[in-house]
Amino acid sequence: MISKKMEEALNNQLNRELFSSYLYLSMATYFENNNYVGMSKWMRLQADEEHAHSMKFFVFIQKIGGRVILEQIDKPQSEWDTPKKAFEDALAHEEYITKNINELTDLAIEERDHSTKTFLQWYIDEQVEEEATVNEIVQKFNLIGDSKSGLYMLDTELGTRILTPDTTAE
Ligand code: FEO
Repeated sequence: MISKKMEEALNNQLNRELFSSYLYLSMATYFENNNYVGMSKWMRLQADEEHAHSMKFFVFIQKIGGRVILEQIDKPQSEWDTPKKAFEDALAHEEYITKNINELTDLAIEERDHSTKTFLQWYIDEQVEEEATVNEIVQKFNLIGDSKSGLYMLDTELGTRILTPDTTAE
């Protein structure tokens, strides 16, 4: 049986994952509006991934006898100065999510809640991947500098992203 404290902490993370989806969807519209169609596609797929992350919490909370409480989702930022700045913000957001996942894991250890700790391991691994992927894109922006053709090529490259379906939330 899950503690009330852990149930609340997991619900908070479910909300953060939904906000992540909302934030990346907002970035997608920013890119779309500025004709970066590849970056827009990349961010739409990222938003889908975040929604899947939230659904894993949704399923897990109920599976262990908890109650999902859906809270309000904060309004995300809608404009960025440059595409690079949007990806830098995405990286900072992922670092914040990693911190949250680590704190949740600390709580699971503190409460000797082994099932939640095991569940969270997937997110610990996923955050390593997410941070590395976004950081790689930020580094590409750094290499490109002010080159318009470089930016065009990066937009084209990011537009080739394909979402790998994740069915583990079932
Ligand atoms: Fe679900 Fe990108 O953290």
